[in-house]
Amino acid sequence: MAKVNIYLGREKKNGELGDWVTLDVSKPRVGVIVGKRGSGKTYSASVLIEECLDRNPRAAYVIIDIMGVYWSLKYPNKNVKELNTPGFKGLIEPKGYADKTRVLVVAGDVKKYQKGTYDGTLTITPNMVSFDVWLSVFNLAPDEPQAMLLKSLLDKFEDKTYSIQELIYALTEELETGRYSKQTIVSLRSKFEYAKSWGIFSKTGMTLRDLAIPGVATIIDVSESSKPVSALLVGLLAEKIYDARKELARIKSWAKVSGRSVSIEDKNIPQTWLIIEEAHNFLPSRERTKASTPLITYVKEGRHPGCGLLLVSQEPAALDTKVLKQIDFLLVHNLSHKQDVEAVKFIAPSPLPRDLDSILIKLGKGEALLSVTGSEVAKKVKIRPKHSIHIARADIAEDKDVVELGEQPFSIWNEYERLKREVVELKAKLIEYQKRAGSKSSLIEKYMNEINKLKHELEKKDQVISELNQRLAEKDSIIRDLESQIKALQPKKYAVSRLKQRLLNSIAGALRDTIINELNSDAKSVLSILGEHPRISLDDLQKSIPSKIKLLKALEKLNAKRFIRIETINNKDYIILNLDNLIRRLSVEPLSDEDIEYVIERIFGLGII
Ligand SMILES: Nc1ncnc2c1ncn2[C@@H]1O[C@H](COP(=O)(O)OP(=O)(O)OP(=O)(O)O)[C@@H](O)[C@H]1O
Ligand SMILES: [Mg+2]
Repeated sequence: MAKVNIYLGREKKNGELGDWVTLDVSKPRVGVIVGKRGSGKTYSASVLIEECLDRNPRAAYVIIDIMGVYWSLKYPNKNVKELNTPGFKGLIEPKGYADKTRVLVVAGDVKKYQKGTYDGTLTITPNMVSFDVWLSVFNLAPDEPQAMLLKSLLDKFEDKTYSIQELIYALTEELETGRYSKQTIVSLRSKFEYAKSWGIFSKTGMTLRDLAIPGVATIIDVSESSKPVSALLVGLLAEKIYDARKELARIKSWAKVSGRSVSIEDKNIPQTWLIIEEAHNFLPSRERTKASTPLITYVKEGRHPGCGLLLVSQEPAALDTKVLKQIDFLLVHNLSHKQDVEAVKFIAPSPLPRDLDSILIKLGKGEALLSVTGSEVAKKVKIRPKHSIHIARADIAEDKDVVELGEQPFSIWNEYERLKREVVELKAKLIEYQKRAGSKSSLIEKYMNEINKLKHELEKKDQVISELNQRLAEKDSIIRDLESQIKALQPKKYAVSRLKQRLLNSIAGALRDTIINELNSDAKSVLSILGEHPRISLDDLQKSIPSKIKLLKALEKLNAKRFIRIETINNKDYIILNLDNLIRRLSVEPLSDEDIEYVIERIFGLGII
């Protein structure tokens, strides 16, 4: 792999400045910067970061900033005297790294920071914290009952995203099961209550991908956070970066061996450098801290998968030097304490000058001895001036207003944070809309079912209607047929009625002849009266024929011929015309009352009688 050299400064030999001193960062390295207070450690670390940001943007840089000084990387260095340090005049231009650095502060501590000194807040989800890290956070041994309870609790939540409060609720519920003693539960619960008070946990926390961004230095300013929080963050970052890089390396090598292409989209964590100030707090020589277990793995095994580390400490003797036996480079600033010098000798990756003690004690500010693995004797280096402004711990401690920052640089991170917030809001809205659409769709489904049912019924009705229409059409044609038949029958109807009239006339004629031939004049007169009054009383008839004998004879004759009948009602005799039966008998065709009436009218109408 091609070298990626960063330029730390110039070699100082016999009081003269010589060649530029470089460090190859093509692969992530593990390095340590030590030196006593104010000797230039943070300055040198900042130069290394500037160089990396300029020359190795492939990697991500995550800084745990205990003192809260790295934000100054954003501002260009205005200290002309410093920029014109002999040996560097005209070579280092003032330049801020506002677009390449991003300052995050722990969400719970945000009020303690001045606005403008940070770009965003940092929270993590409790599920980012592994069982092992929780153990070290809570100082628990794995075989303690509390640890076992913790394990069963975390198993219960598995991969789910949860809040600390939910863990606390779950613990409270555990009180009822009786599986663990009340004391164990209450103790673990109060530990989580304490962790909650740090204000670093949230249900929607940042992921490693939010923190490890290629070409960007993510500065986690923990200067206002409590010690356990910084230790938790260091441990967590070491563990997560290592795990992610290891998984990526495994996937890549599998893909290489198997010849298959593998999607690494969400696992693509860049090579990452973890930069830790006051490192003796996290990797101390005598005890284990919340951070030490993951840090030790990170140091010992992280290089191959691409985990870089830069530890900065003023007390090398207080560092776990056994772990640091295999570092790649060591930058030693002024040191005088014997134990610290001994620690340096122990961890230096290359031979050191024989007169080390006196050299170290004489190093000026910004001067250091660089020992790199695989090289010959360590070199004395005059570290180059910074492009960006430097804020020293002393400046903060004395609250000195020595540096003029100038205008606040534009930061893309504000925009980034704003957009991220928008994305979160939009995602929430999307979920809400999806939910609403879901309920709508079930409603729509219901309506669709209803509509389909109605459609089906409609179809059935349509079918019935068309059947009825067909039958109607059939009836219509029958009616039309009948009408035409009726029309055809019309002339026959006239013929029939004419025939009938003739028949009736002949009946009337025949009857009239019989009446004329067989009756005397008195009988004819009686009949003639009956023609006008088909029912008449004997008394009234008497008025027409005064001779009683004649009248009785006539009636006798008429009765014998059944032309009349006599009825007695209320002792009064009535004579009733009785031609109906006679006429019926004379006809070969059945006659209606109307026909009979016609015949009678005809007999009397002719006035023959
Ligand atoms: N290479 C350098 N060129 C110019 N000035 C430097 C250089 N290195 C350090 N200084 C100056 O020395 C002072 C202390 O430097 P720095 O803050 O890096 O010290 P430190 O070792 O980190 O101290 P502490 O242990 O207190 O954190 C600062 O004022 C800084 O400007
Ligand atoms: Mg410092």
